[in-house]
Amino acid sequence: MSHDPVCLASTMIPPLSAPLHGVATVPGDKSISHRAVLFAAMAEGTSHLAGVLDSDDVRSSMAAVRQLGAQVSLEKQPDGSLAGSVTGWGAAGPRKPEGAVDCGNSGTTARLLMGVLAPWDVPVEITGDESLSRRPMRRITAPLMKMGVRFLPEGRETLPLTVRGTHGLRALTYDAPMASAQLKTAVLLAGVYAKGTTTVNEPAPSRNHTELMLPEFGVSTTAANCTAGVTGPQDLAACEVHVPGDPSSAAFLVCAAVLKRDSAIQVENVSLNTARIGFTRTLERMGAEVSVQRTGAAGKEPFGTISVCYTANLHGCEVPAEKIASIVDEVPVLALVAAFARGVTVFREVGELRVKETDRLAAVVEGLAHLGVEAYIDGNDLYVEGQPGLAVPEGVTLDSKGDHRLAMTWALAGLTGNTSVCVENFDAVRISYPQFLEDIERLAR
Ligand code: S3P
Repeated sequence: MSHDPVCLASTMIPPLSAPLHGVATVPGDKSISHRAVLFAAMAEGTSHLAGVLDSDDVRSSMAAVRQLGAQVSLEKQPDGSLAGSVTGWGAAGPRKPEGAVDCGNSGTTARLLMGVLAPWDVPVEITGDESLSRRPMRRITAPLMKMGVRFLPEGRETLPLTVRGTHGLRALTYDAPMASAQLKTAVLLAGVYAKGTTTVNEPAPSRNHTELMLPEFGVSTTAANCTAGVTGPQDLAACEVHVPGDPSSAAFLVCAAVLKRDSAIQVENVSLNTARIGFTRTLERMGAEVSVQRTGAAGKEPFGTISVCYTANLHGCEVPAEKIASIVDEVPVLALVAAFARGVTVFREVGELRVKETDRLAAVVEGLAHLGVEAYIDGNDLYVEGQPGLAVPEGVTLDSKGDHRLAMTWALAGLTGNTSVCVENFDAVRISYPQFLEDIERLAR
């Protein structure tokens, strides 16, 4: 990795010197790691966690619960993961923190925390970095307000916000306007402490890690295709959680192998939760040779191996609206793969990408244009006009906009292409996959 002297914040990513081969593992799942830390903090007793992702986002959750009174002793392991114990506040509730709780770049920390704090009459100010301060919070505050939580200043729709919970939470049946696991989780967490049954109905199934993990902490949940529920009040009791590998991180290695001639890899111990591995189905529909094999389960989360090899004749496909929730974080890298495929790929109803760490729709269209690929947005649909044999232009610079998934997407253009690309703010990978570059370079040795 060398640094471009012209722009210090950018990183030159040269093409991999060889095809990708062999077996890889990826760091722990980010969504499951956040939940393990937060639920352990809410629980009575000491939970033991292993395989926790060590990244900026998860450290935001760890710092937040520490500030609120949980004891977090998670230590770095030889494989780079975090393992150890978290002693929760249980029935005593969180303590009033010194100052605001800064969630950094982590939308999951900020939004889930609102549900965590909902049952406690302790005012907590939640803040975040510039990107998080722009992201919509009304989707969380609206249902929680119906349950009795107050947010100050009233009417504000972005951070900073002060959460003022209540011991008298009301159960709620909520028809969520969008498929969002963060929204669903915040409402269900409040529902754990509300008297009666709280139900969230979704327009499409979002990731279900909360429904799967709460029972590990002794809280029963109900879950069907587009609905999840909890009947309160219940208490969380400490437990053991083992976090499987993150499919959203694995997606970058898998897509790299699809694009880099003569590659063949297996990624082991990855979460195979069906709400998360939609990208394998999308790649299959584009003609890629990819398969998944279940090898075990961590609690109720299935995990296993994803096998994939280089595919010479990719073709465009249509991803229907109801499948988007299962690839929501993978759309940028799948759009890059689509750029190398024959024909047009359409991602239907991907408007949610506008309110991720950055406007990922606009950023994908802009980045692909720099690569000489026509992509456009029509309503909420993203179209990519593929170019088989696409040659990456010499000297191209692609901007991550400080967004980890864009940083890795644009890095793949350099790693699997014909010439180096310069990625601005590549450093954003520390949010979810700090060792991304080392992992992918190791596979190409
Ligand atoms: C997440 C849910 C998704 C996803 C995010 C993590 C979670 O967001 O994009 O990276 O852990 O619940 P939405 O709930 O906004 O779809």
